[in-house]
Amino acid sequence: MPVFGLGTWRMGEHPEQFAHDAEVIRAALDLGITLLDSAEMYGEGGAEEVIGQAIQGRRDGLFLVSKFYPHNASRNGVIEACERSLRRMNCDYIDLYLLHWPGSTPLERTFEGLHELRDGGKIRNFGVSNFNIGDLEAVPAADQAQLGCNQIFYNLAHREVEWEVSAWCQQRAVPLMAYSPLDQASELLRSVAINNVAARHEASAAQIALAWLLHQPNTVVIPKSARPERIRENLAALEINLSEQDLDELDSSHPAPEQAVRLGMR
Ligand SMILES: NC(=O)c1ccc[n+]([C@@H]2O[C@H](COP(=O)([O-])OP(=O)(O)OC[C@H]3O[C@@H](n4cnc5c(N)ncnc54)[C@H](OP(=O)(O)O)[C@@H]3O)[C@@H](O)[C@H]2O)c1
Repeated sequence: MPVFGLGTWRMGEHPEQFAHDAEVIRAALDLGITLLDSAEMYGEGGAEEVIGQAIQGRRDGLFLVSKFYPHNASRNGVIEACERSLRRMNCDYIDLYLLHWPGSTPLERTFEGLHELRDGGKIRNFGVSNFNIGDLEAVPAADQAQLGCNQIFYNLAHREVEWEVSAWCQQRAVPLMAYSPLDQASELLRSVAINNVAARHEASAAQIALAWLLHQPNTVVIPKSARPERIRENLAALEINLSEQDLDELDSSHPAPEQAVRLGMR
């Protein structure tokens, strides 16, 4: 799995936006991005349709991630949801298909559907999103170490995953996929510590926030931008090597939790 992808939340929400958003995704592919993250929820299928338009003729070499609603997590529900996503994205398979957040359907049923999809070649692998420890423990035992990722809210201002979910995933070599890695361009990008480190690297705050996540073990980032110049800027985070001093400063200004805490959600 590539370690850097493009998020597509807020894309494809209005039909008049489709052509522009597809252009942005094509620009991202031209810049070298190969992982696209989407969900049936984004624009109620609109973001997947935009992806379908953007990847025409260039599916090979891409790693497509999409997610299904918990209310579609029954054995048949997940199969039907996947088929709808494939039609919208105009492709034959999804590389990684995730349960968007935990719901009330027993996970045994969900994973039966996911196995059927994988056996039929409609998905390459499956995983979960927004799963706390109790949710992870409820995944059928034989599937736990097979999870393609746990996609979670993770950035320097929100390190809840480090309380115990990270360790659970690392023990099973399950990658973490950090969503909202820029904390949705909030206060985080104005952090004094991040900006001090950025100045030393002649980098932007966004690049340092991403470089820090990329420094964490087995962690993938999926920042979203609808502007090609920012996508280029964000991608350059891959070239930044943070020093011990950088890491210490970031850690003391944005510490990991010191007591039990559940994952945040966006
Ligand atoms: N599994 C889940 O429950 C879940 C939840 C939330 C998100 N996600 C996924 O994760 C992806 C990323 O998360 P996100 O979209 O919530 O937040 P994000 O990537 O942390 O931030 C996106 C925001 O940052 C701005 N931005 C991007 N690059 C920037 C830069 N270099 N400098 C300043 N601002 C910049 C974007 O504006 P512009 O577009 O104007 O550049 C946008 O407003 C989503 O798109 C989605 O695919 C998953």
